[in-house]
Amino acid sequence: MILTSAQSTQNNPPDGTGLHIGVFDSGLGGLSVLRAIHHHLPSAHLMYVADSAHAPYGERDEAFIIRRSAIIGDFLVSQGAQILVVACNTATAAAVATLRQHLAALPVVGVEPGVKPAVALSRNHRIGVLATPRTLDSNKFQHLVQNHSNNAELVLQACPGLAKEIERGALDSPHLRALIKQFCEPLRQAQVDTVVLGCTHYPFVIPLIQQEMGDSVHLVDTAEAVARHTARIAAKLECENKASPTPSIQLWTSGQASHLSAVAQNWLQWPLHAESLPLDVA
Ligand code: DGL
Repeated sequence: MILTSAQSTQNNPPDGTGLHIGVFDSGLGGLSVLRAIHHHLPSAHLMYVADSAHAPYGERDEAFIIRRSAIIGDFLVSQGAQILVVACNTATAAAVATLRQHLAALPVVGVEPGVKPAVALSRNHRIGVLATPRTLDSNKFQHLVQNHSNNAELVLQACPGLAKEIERGALDSPHLRALIKQFCEPLRQAQVDTVVLGCTHYPFVIPLIQQEMGDSVHLVDTAEAVARHTARIAAKLECENKASPTPSIQLWTSGQASHLSAVAQNWLQWPLHAESLPLDVA
C-alpha cells in the first residue's frame, strides 16, 4: 500500500482513476473513521477535511453546522468524491438529511452513536453514552434511543469541552484527564457495563476512558461499522477494484495545516502532509 501526500488541490475527476471518497469532521476526530475506511478500502483515494477553525460543532447551532457541512460537501465533490462520509456524529445529527437532498446524486454516509451494538453487548442493560451536547439534544438521537434502547437504562453524558481539548493534539494532558474523569464519574456511579463513544474524537482517548471505567467495561466505537458500510456502497458502485494509479490520502483543514499534519502523523502513524482549504471554503 502506498501513501502519498497530496500535491495539488486541483479538481481531481474520478473517471478511470479509482474510487474517491470524501470524509469530513468538525476537526481531527474523523481521522478515526478515515483510518477504518483506509483499512477496508486500501486502494481508494481518500480525501479528508478537518473543519478545525470552526470546531467544536457540538457547541454550535444547527444552522451553522448545516451551512458548514454543505460547503465542505460541495468542496469534496468538486475534488471528485463519489461517496461522502460525514465522520462526525454531531454533523450527522444536524445535517445529514439536508446533505442528502443537497447532494442527491451521491451516497452520503453518516455516523451515529452506537446504541444498537451497545444494547446487544450489555449484560446488565446499563449503558453510558458520551457525546457532544448537540448530538444528545438532536431529534435524530432521540429517535435512535426510542427505537433501539430496548428498555436498557441509558445514562446520557454530554461532554462539553472534551472534543476541543482532544483537538489540541496532546492525548495525555492533565486537563484532558480531568475532563474524562468528570464525565465518566456519573457512568461509574450508574455501574454501566458498556459505554458508547458518541463522538469521533473520543476513540483517540480510549486508554484514558478505559482507565476511568475499568477494564471490564466495553467501549463501543462505530468507526469499523461505518467503514464496512462504506465498503458495501463502494462495491455497489463497482469501482472499488479500479485502484488509483497512486492511491493516496489528501488532507485539508480550515485550521492550521501544520497542526493537522503533525496530529495525523502522530495519531495514525501515516506520513501525511495537510493543506489549507481554499479561502472560499475555509
Ligand atoms: N467529532 C465530532 C462528533 O463526532 C464533533 C466534535 C465537535 O466538534 O464537537 O460529534
